[in-house]
Amino acid sequence: MITIAIDGPSGAGKSTIAKLLAKKLDIMYLDTGAMYRCLGLKALKSGLDVKDEATVKNMLDRTMVDVRYIDGVQKVFLDDIDVTAEIREHAVSKMASDISAVPCVRKKMADSQREIAKKRDCVLDGRDIGSYVLPDAKFKFFLTASAEVRACRRVKELAQKGQDLPYEQVLSDIIARDYNDSHRQIAPLVQVADAVLIDSSDLSVDEVINKFLVVIGDKKRV
Ligand code: DC
Repeated sequence: MITIAIDGPSGAGKSTIAKLLAKKLDIMYLDTGAMYRCLGLKALKSGLDVKDEATVKNMLDRTMVDVRYIDGVQKVFLDDIDVTAEIREHAVSKMASDISAVPCVRKKMADSQREIAKKRDCVLDGRDIGSYVLPDAKFKFFLTASAEVRACRRVKELAQKGQDLPYEQVLSDIIARDYNDSHRQIAPLVQVADAVLIDSSDLSVDEVINKFLVVIGDKKRV
């Protein structure tokens, strides 16, 4: 079984790379951030206090997060409703980060990611895949970029979806989210010792993909 773990901060290009890599290698791609985003969306809609673990647990027990493939495209369902586009809204990002720090949430999401990964070859992107979800993954990468580059990319991405946000706000939200994700108690964002570090700040998508393929090719020969 081949498992490729790609961790790193938001906006480093993980999902773009993971998607392309999965296609090139003809294996499955699992966007673990999308799972936390579903819970963030539900919490946002219901005005839930994410600091109250008992309330979060109650919501979690009554929530279905499902990743399905329709004509080869990954779709994310929250309680049987397609929320693939909605979970990408800017307001959902912070809520996803906040709810992802709640212990019962991390446990449930990690268990279901392990279940998915044990059945097939796959690429998973997230924050804790190489450190906590699948510490025995064959390939581990830590993909990063400067906060400024990530904010620029995010502004463009949001604009393409009709959400115009000022660069300064996006940058400060990114810095706050990095802090949140790397300082939580359980499974924080961290570069593990056996992960290959790739900085995409000054690289094109093709250049990043090539770096991944070189590492994967080299390691496969070992
Ligand atoms: O990758 P993303 O920006 O879509 O993830 C949204 C949030 O979910 C992120 O701020 C932290 C959380 N997350 C996590 O804690 N662990 C993961 N494996 C993936 C995402």
